[in-house]
Amino acid sequence: MIAIRFERVTKMFDDQVVLKDFDLKVRKAETKIILGGSGSGKTTILKMVLGLVKPDQGRIWVNDRDITDLSEDELMDIRKEIGMVFQEGALFDSMTVGENVAYPLREARRHTPEEMEAAVRRLLGFVGLADAFDKMPSELSGGMKRRVAIARAVVHRPSIVLYDEPTAGLDPITSRTICDLVIALRDLEGVSSIFVTHDLSAATTLASEMAIRESSGQVTFRSENNEFCLANTRFVILKDGQIIFEGTDESLDTAEDEYVREFLT
Ligand SMILES: Nc1ncnc2c1ncn2[C@@H]1O[C@H](COP(=O)(O)OP(=O)(O)O)[C@@H](O)[C@H]1O
Ligand SMILES: [Mg+2]
Repeated sequence: MIAIRFERVTKMFDDQVVLKDFDLKVRKAETKIILGGSGSGKTTILKMVLGLVKPDQGRIWVNDRDITDLSEDELMDIRKEIGMVFQEGALFDSMTVGENVAYPLREARRHTPEEMEAAVRRLLGFVGLADAFDKMPSELSGGMKRRVAIARAVVHRPSIVLYDEPTAGLDPITSRTICDLVIALRDLEGVSSIFVTHDLSAATTLASEMAIRESSGQVTFRSENNEFCLANTRFVILKDGQIIFEGTDESLDTAEDEYVREFLT
């Protein structure tokens, strides 16, 4: 199954061509990292996956369904399958951390209170915030809030997660926690994702490490150097509305294009 597919998508805002004949494929359990300068159309791509922005030309499929011409009502069904992590992942200030993370589950109205609490505690544990369940957002640091926002984005187990610069401005340890979650969702839950970032260090981590669940149930992270398989992650570099590079971290290291090299320094 193809989780996300763009076929010859063109998008203009006024006279400005943001994407031109843009093609993209994200397979099941794959992470596509999108690198590109400010204003290169990265956020626009994510909004198109959600149907918030429509292409001028071309077609877009999500989980093998053509969403290009869907109505707002039909798009609601598609959006249930998608988790979104925006840079400004604002929390609801009047709700506890636990209530914030439970919010998408409560909206779905399919879960008992016990199921919701178990899911919320599990995810908070994963992002290293097990103790924050009863806290208010105002008691948390910026990095902790970001981790809560990510927990909330994935608590309803979406098959697709979109990340818009989720590690921007974070300290290395918080950034690492976020990468761990992205890798674990990819390798242990088969989540497909687009990870938009300027953070080459985070991108490299995603492309070179794998999550494994040990027989004890514990999740560990291994560098792909020691394994026979590759992390299921590819890079895409955008420039002037088109892809100028697509490939693995290894091929990125050897790419000779000047614009690509600029991203690596
Ligand atoms: N709703 C909009 N109306 C007009 N121009 C827009 C709109 N959304 C984005 N743009 C323009 O499209 C270009 C790409 O934006 P964006 O996708 O946000 O870039 P990125 O996320 O890569 O920084 C920018 O020049 C931006 O100003
Ligand atoms: Mg953006």
